[in-house]
Amino acid sequence: MPSIAEQAAALQERTVAVRRDLHRHPEIAFEEHRTMGVVARRLRELGLEPRVGVGRTGVVALLDTGRPGPTVLARADIDALPVPEEKQVDYRSTVAGKMHACGHDGHTAVLLSVAEVLVSRRAQLAGRVLFVFQPAEEIVRGARAMLDDGALEGLTVDHVLGLHLSSSEPVGTVSVAEGPVMAATDSFRLLVRGRGGHAAYPHLCVDPIVAAAQLVTALQTLVSRETDPLDRSVVTITSVHAGTAYNIIPEEVELKGTLRTFDAGTRQRLRARLLEVAELTTRSLGCGLAHEWFEGTPAVVNDAAATERFRRVARELLGPENVREMTPIMGGDDMALWLEQAKGCYFFVGTRGGEETAFAHHHPRFDIDEAGLEVAVALFAAGVVDLLQAD
Ligand code: NI
Repeated sequence: MPSIAEQAAALQERTVAVRRDLHRHPEIAFEEHRTMGVVARRLRELGLEPRVGVGRTGVVALLDTGRPGPTVLARADIDALPVPEEKQVDYRSTVAGKMHACGHDGHTAVLLSVAEVLVSRRAQLAGRVLFVFQPAEEIVRGARAMLDDGALEGLTVDHVLGLHLSSSEPVGTVSVAEGPVMAATDSFRLLVRGRGGHAAYPHLCVDPIVAAAQLVTALQTLVSRETDPLDRSVVTITSVHAGTAYNIIPEEVELKGTLRTFDAGTRQRLRARLLEVAELTTRSLGCGLAHEWFEGTPAVVNDAAATERFRRVARELLGPENVREMTPIMGGDDMALWLEQAKGCYFFVGTRGGEETAFAHHHPRFDIDEAGLEVAVALFAAGVVDLLQAD
């Protein structure tokens, strides 16, 4: 039997071909019909029986070794972004305004190759692997949709593994950390209501713009003055809309923003305080307040033991010098919901090879050094095999 690294190398051409095919045909949240077909076809080729349309455009497939053992959930997200591609490579997006600007094309190709590696090794494994191809990560709705649609029906999951490619880390490395590694993401809309009128007669109006301006400033103290500096959090107002003319005080101001936190208690506290400060600030200036709160995902939290176990596998595969300690990031990912199902680990595989592959995720020139895909296949497959090794 070839080693897992040798298998990943032998599959590399196929992994790249699948990635490029998906890259040419990006599909955004809940529109991943073609992608779903590509995934399902390949899984069927491998002798698996994929369930399609789970959570609208997700796919799950179970590899059962027939021997008693743990169940491992292996997840990849499959959606693209509404970003117009600016690269001139021959595998560039063929869909105007859409591209795989976060590397999920790579995630999908990698997990398909991982499935092939694991199927070929099933005689040496015990337990089961549930392959999860998740839509709509970019709007953090896909994991919830799949769970609500019975993605895990009849299964008790023991371990969860997943990866994200990373243009900020060089090819040949993996970055991982225990504890919270990606932030909880919530967003909100606030409507400050005053009483409009002529700009020359402010005393006859209640000016919602002045109230909104004070509110934006007041909200900045929630993190800077009320939150432990070591407990990383962000409150950002991202949108302010009001008014139509030079001489009219408008009726209302609409504010939008996001809250990012790592600690579950801090998340609850900041939400409550944000709404309280908003209510009191606007009321003190004679305005009313309405709000909508859009609960996003919790923080992505890596289990300490699972992370250490994965680190051992990674060190053996890549050498200890290539296994890096990850710095937590304020971005969010609904991998968090899969990690709530069982202990597990989300790790970041380097795909930066040079200038062309150093653009930030979501940038119109984002690209990956495809050599990182082979590393990702080997790491992901080895991580699962380590959990399912038959005695
Ligand atoms: Ni992503």
